[in-house]
Amino acid sequence: MTLDRHIGDERSGGSNPSGNPSLSDIVEARISRRSVLAGGLATGAVAFLGLDRLAGGAVAAAPRASSHGGGGQGPLLGFEAVLPSSDDALVVAPGYTVDVLIPWGTPLRSTGPAWKKDASNTSAEQAMQIGMHHDGMHFFPLGRGFFASRVGLLVLNHEYVDPTLLTIDGAAEMTQEKVDKALAAHGVSVVKIALVRGKWQVVDSSYNRRITGNTPMLFSGPVSADHPMLQSQTGNPVVGTLNNCAHGYTPWNTYLTCEENWNGYFGTEDPTWSPDALQSRYGVSKAGFGYRWHLADERFDLAKNSNELNRFGWVVEINPFDPRSTPVKRTALGRVKHEGATFAESCGQAVVYTGDDENKDYFYKYVSDRPWRSEIARRRSPLDHGRLYVARFDEDGTGEWLPVVFGEGPLTAANGWVDQADVLIRTRQAADALGATKLDRPEWNTVHPRTQDVYLTLTNGSAGPNAVNPRNPNPYGHIVKIVNPQRDHTATTFAWDIWVLAGDPAYDPQVDLDETNIFGSPDGLWIDDDGRMWIQTDISNSSQNLASRGYDNIKNNAMLAADPETGEIRRFLVGPRGCEITGVVTTPDQRTMFVNVQHPGESTTAWGSPTPENPRAVSNWPDYDPEGRPRPATLVIRKIGGGKIGS
Ligand code: FEO
Ligand code: CA
Ligand code: CA
Ligand code: CA
Repeated sequence: MTLDRHIGDERSGGSNPSGNPSLSDIVEARISRRSVLAGGLATGAVAFLGLDRLAGGAVAAAPRASSHGGGGQGPLLGFEAVLPSSDDALVVAPGYTVDVLIPWGTPLRSTGPAWKKDASNTSAEQAMQIGMHHDGMHFFPLGRGFFASRVGLLVLNHEYVDPTLLTIDGAAEMTQEKVDKALAAHGVSVVKIALVRGKWQVVDSSYNRRITGNTPMLFSGPVSADHPMLQSQTGNPVVGTLNNCAHGYTPWNTYLTCEENWNGYFGTEDPTWSPDALQSRYGVSKAGFGYRWHLADERFDLAKNSNELNRFGWVVEINPFDPRSTPVKRTALGRVKHEGATFAESCGQAVVYTGDDENKDYFYKYVSDRPWRSEIARRRSPLDHGRLYVARFDEDGTGEWLPVVFGEGPLTAANGWVDQADVLIRTRQAADALGATKLDRPEWNTVHPRTQDVYLTLTNGSAGPNAVNPRNPNPYGHIVKIVNPQRDHTATTFAWDIWVLAGDPAYDPQVDLDETNIFGSPDGLWIDDDGRMWIQTDISNSSQNLASRGYDNIKNNAMLAADPETGEIRRFLVGPRGCEITGVVTTPDQRTMFVNVQHPGESTTAWGSPTPENPRAVSNWPDYDPEGRPRPATLVIRKIGGGKIGS
């Protein structure tokens, strides 16, 4: 079976029928203006119109000193770029080593069930093993100083599963056991790892833990678990987190996991069922994404248990240092298809930026009412009491954060809004009413540790053409830079510009990239402590390596490193066939980098589809076992002879 869509796919249309403008209308106007002022986007060094206007010059716009060509002099990037690759192999820059850690099915403890290469592990065994489809990830040091970079907790998401590869007979005939195994392969893994004799390895520990689609959950913030819209009609308890895409982490040492395409797990055979307006706005449909769980488990049957939907779409906080703690859905951050949840701080207040990854959906931020330290001291969560905002990107390079707050603007009782819980359960509809700007699928965002600028990947889509989504169709995506006045993340205005247009100049002459750095569909994005920006790609397998989609030169998904200030970009790593590259973090000393390879060997247009008989049809990475199957895994990247990764 081929699922209707996977996470990296271009999703045509989206589910946003509102009349709100898209960023692309706005971007086109800005690019034309730049062309006049600065001789075109490709020359770089363009004036940051919005920044100038916003801050009267007080916020310096980082100049783009040179083009995005690979020959720049940026001191941040000290490695030789690798070329695009379509091999079924992991390729990394010369001078680096790559080891594979915790592939799907690795037992959490040495006494745990071994992974079986015919996929015959049971659901109970899967619940004691690393999940499938590794995604967002963070490293929490367990030691101090020297030891902080030698022992810690690796916490990572498992976004979804490939039903063909997960069980012995693939997706043929849905059973409760298959649903249970799939649920057990979703969620989050917490594993203690240590650097022992030059190799990172899993350590037996009481910290080691799985959180799955069946783990008990708490609700906190304005939406409580006893809200009428969250009451299961089939009596199932409040359990599970699903489609955990990107992540975040807090300075109080918790991990945030984000529920993205949760709508795709639900379906029904009831011919009389049809989605209501709220369900439609979240993309809920009879067939879902083709998982067919509802055939065996009424929990996921829309006609029998539609309120289960409302338990998903949240940011979930996990304390990895307390293995007995119950994860908490932090409802104040809104209910959307959260890509990630990036923490920032201004005046002590907690700020969390989060994209809603759907074509023509929005970018949000949450601002805590009070400083997070005093909230933690009072044993209150800084993520329960605050204001949610959604972004409007204006044509002139400025923007405004619009409060998604009951009683403000159009979100009043007179307009049918009940209270803040109602606004949050219907976050997308509230943002529609506010006039937020539609975007080309907002994926990860990251905050520059020094400048505090926010960078946001827009992976691909058709929200434009306008200023912030300059191309329509936009099969390659772009990265937007957002600058806060006086670096204040709590401000309600901002300036923005397009940092780079991704793509291949052979197909789109506007693209200022070459063979050392062409890329498409940026998704993962992270800036390390030195200011090095890591860009990870998730080109859909319906486009990857295909000339007909303009993706033959870009080849397999990759990770690139960039200097956000000079604009220099270099390809650092290329993944095997059928995968996306996602999730990146280093140890505090930056001498070990962890990166995830998700869905190697997935069904592709270029190489065909895996089957239960031949699961290796597309990829056999990383084991290359002639009787095995491809496995998502974490990469451990180190520099030969030592040194910071990317330097
Ligand atoms: Fe799960 Fe938006 O990628
Ligand atoms: Ca993606
Ligand atoms: Ca993907
Ligand atoms: Ca992603």
